[in-house]
Amino acid sequence: MKSTKAHLYETANGLMKGLSDLVDLRQGYHYQPTAYNGVKVLTLTLNNVSSRALRPIANNLRELSMYVTTEGEAAEDIRIGRSQKKHTIKLEIVKPQFYWKQLDLRHIAHRSTGTPVATIGVDLQDKPARIDFDEPDASHILLIGQTRCGKTNTAKVFAWNIAHNLKPEQGRVVIFDIAPAKKGRDWGDFKRLPVLAADLIVDTEVAAKTLKWLDFELLRRGKISDPPRLFVLVDELKALFDIIPDSRAILTRLGSQGAGVNIHLILATQVAQVNTLGCSELLGNVGIRLCGKVTDANKAYAALGEGGTGAEQLMGLGDFLLKWNGLHRLAIAKVTDQNMALLPRGEINPLINFDDMPDSEILPTEAKPIINRGQPSQVLPVEPEHLAYLMATGMMGQKKLASGIKAAGLAETFSNERAGRVIGYLKRMNKWWSANGYSLNVE
Ligand SMILES: Nc1ncnc2c1ncn2[C@@H]1O[C@H](COP(=O)(O)OP(=O)(O)O)[C@@H](O)[C@H]1O
Ligand SMILES: [Mg+2]
Repeated sequence: MKSTKAHLYETANGLMKGLSDLVDLRQGYHYQPTAYNGVKVLTLTLNNVSSRALRPIANNLRELSMYVTTEGEAAEDIRIGRSQKKHTIKLEIVKPQFYWKQLDLRHIAHRSTGTPVATIGVDLQDKPARIDFDEPDASHILLIGQTRCGKTNTAKVFAWNIAHNLKPEQGRVVIFDIAPAKKGRDWGDFKRLPVLAADLIVDTEVAAKTLKWLDFELLRRGKISDPPRLFVLVDELKALFDIIPDSRAILTRLGSQGAGVNIHLILATQVAQVNTLGCSELLGNVGIRLCGKVTDANKAYAALGEGGTGAEQLMGLGDFLLKWNGLHRLAIAKVTDQNMALLPRGEINPLINFDDMPDSEILPTEAKPIINRGQPSQVLPVEPEHLAYLMATGMMGQKKLASGIKAAGLAETFSNERAGRVIGYLKRMNKWWSANGYSLNVE
């Protein structure tokens, strides 16, 4: 292998020769080049280049990669990056692994603790990429990508940051991994961390109960000011949806109302198509997307909600696109044993306690009807559970009721024979209501 310097020099020169041969763009004459040697990716920036050059370059990316060879091997995919500046084109070339730079979470992690901030890796200029869960649209996160692109590792980076930056009384994380083939296998190193709200959840029954607990926690927190953070991390989201049908509705509620009560979602999935996942409202409430390698441009579109991102040209191994205030290519840090050794270990003082839940049959699980965004809004029949839920969440008094329930529907319901069922339902919940600070007056 050559020295790093020699390799970079040859890569940049090869690219520039390719640009000249293939699209007739010459250095100094048609553009001024600058190069940056990132952790895994070399960026060649063409400055002062005509925007008309973009399409010819895009059409010749394959051929261009042939001009970049290491030990006789052509470069992997070349991606055209997004550039904020006009007349600037960024070409991103993955370096052979031999030339990668070290990237250690310890060195980039946030120093000041006590804040809900996750440092997940570095951008192409080696600047640490931080996500502050308190920033606008940053409450919830979706991780997408094909198998082995690095979703679980990225989810671990988030969990590591939470454990590293927050004391158990400031924030907790609950981790679900119930996919039959996995069942927590990838999460063995996350046992016995006091930051966990419960032991790793790998069992279907425990998962279903915990979800119901979370559903009630959402209501309970409405009465508390500034409750501690709770991060709900789901690895293999599709499996959870398939195995526990209620999980869609519950996660959708957590997605739409969780941010206000310091509940955050971190969801990982191979599948991002709305019609396969069946949760458009949930996806609409997730402000941050992190996408690793996907198989093709259609998958990339589903993952990021826009075309031309080049997510299918990522290489895997933590090579991700962050969609949040623009689109940014990141090298995600790998969570190592040394990183894990820095986390405090000890007994978990469970936050999730099934004893303080009401009888499970009267949970308002399906209470809030879910309406798909972008589809004509349907008026769903109002069930007693819906009303109870609306009352419990204080939405009754508002003109704008939960999606899909029209005020007219409510009036009608009260005047028909369902009213009795509503009151019955509310009374059965009474014990829980008073335990949680509600005073209920039903005649
Ligand atoms: N950021 C990273 N840097 C280097 N290697 C990584 C990174 N993320 C993942 N890998 C490697 O890629 C493999 C798959 O990662 P994993 O997180 O399990 O992917 P997924 O959950 O998408 O299937 C693992 O062996 C892991 O070591
Ligand atoms: Mg995984």
